[in-house]
Amino acid sequence: MLYPNLKFPKRVGRPFFYTNFVATVDGKVQVLKNSKDYWPIGSKTDYQVLLELRAYADYLIHGSNLASEFGEITLNSLNKLSFAKMRKKLGRDSKLPYCIITSQPKKFAGFGNEVIVAGSDLRNLSQQLHEKGYKNVLVEGGPTLLASFLKADLLDEIFLTIAPRIFGNEDKKTLSLVEGYLFPKNTIKNLSLLSIKRLNSEIYLRYKIRK
Ligand SMILES: NC(=O)c1ccc[n+]([C@@H]2O[C@H](COP(=O)([O-])OP(=O)(O)OC[C@H]3O[C@@H](n4cnc5c(N)ncnc54)[C@H](OP(=O)(O)O)[C@@H]3O)[C@@H](O)[C@H]2O)c1
Repeated sequence: MLYPNLKFPKRVGRPFFYTNFVATVDGKVQVLKNSKDYWPIGSKTDYQVLLELRAYADYLIHGSNLASEFGEITLNSLNKLSFAKMRKKLGRDSKLPYCIITSQPKKFAGFGNEVIVAGSDLRNLSQQLHEKGYKNVLVEGGPTLLASFLKADLLDEIFLTIAPRIFGNEDKKTLSLVEGYLFPKNTIKNLSLLSIKRLNSEIYLRYKIRK
């Protein structure tokens, strides 16, 4: 494991929210057209780290666009025996609840009761998760949802893999880590580096968001 014995600080009155992304050296997390030509961005190890960080979570959140693209793949991986075993080893429930944030719940009716669909109010969601006893919540994005969590001052840590690749960009054809909101000067997010790990040419960063 890249992060054995990972521990998260406790938050008062709300869960601890963390995210995990992989970006190219030029900061791209997705190419919007022909995206399959550019996927996966990271190595097999990066995918293992994604599973590992999921295994530590009490609750998993996806934005509507991420879920439309990767929801089924996510559900399949959450239902794997190997994932349940990884969670048990870490002292977690074998099942990780999976929640999609959308203003249009009907879009995800096909997922059945395996998926929780929540509305857009993140403060309200945070309160509900706190009341239900969830402590460590993984928000896997995408960039639009991440912007909302940052804007609401709810995000605590960012795990970021830097993949040794450059995609470039033209005419808004790519996404970077945070999209849809430009922080005004006095609310720019400042981060502290908690750890840095290197595997071959890939770098694994863990940042805390300063409050
Ligand atoms: N490289 C990586 O590590 C990585 C990680 C994650 C995602 N991605 C990529 O990112 C892309 C998806 O990201 P995205 O930015 O387009 O979309 P997103 O963040 O996944 O979803 C945004 C959508 O969620 C819904 N939503 C509901 N409440 C919201 C709120 N409070 N704040 C923000 N959104 C809310 C809205 O859709 P409704 O109309 O349904 O309400 C909104 O359009 C995918 O292509 C995925 O592959 C890459």
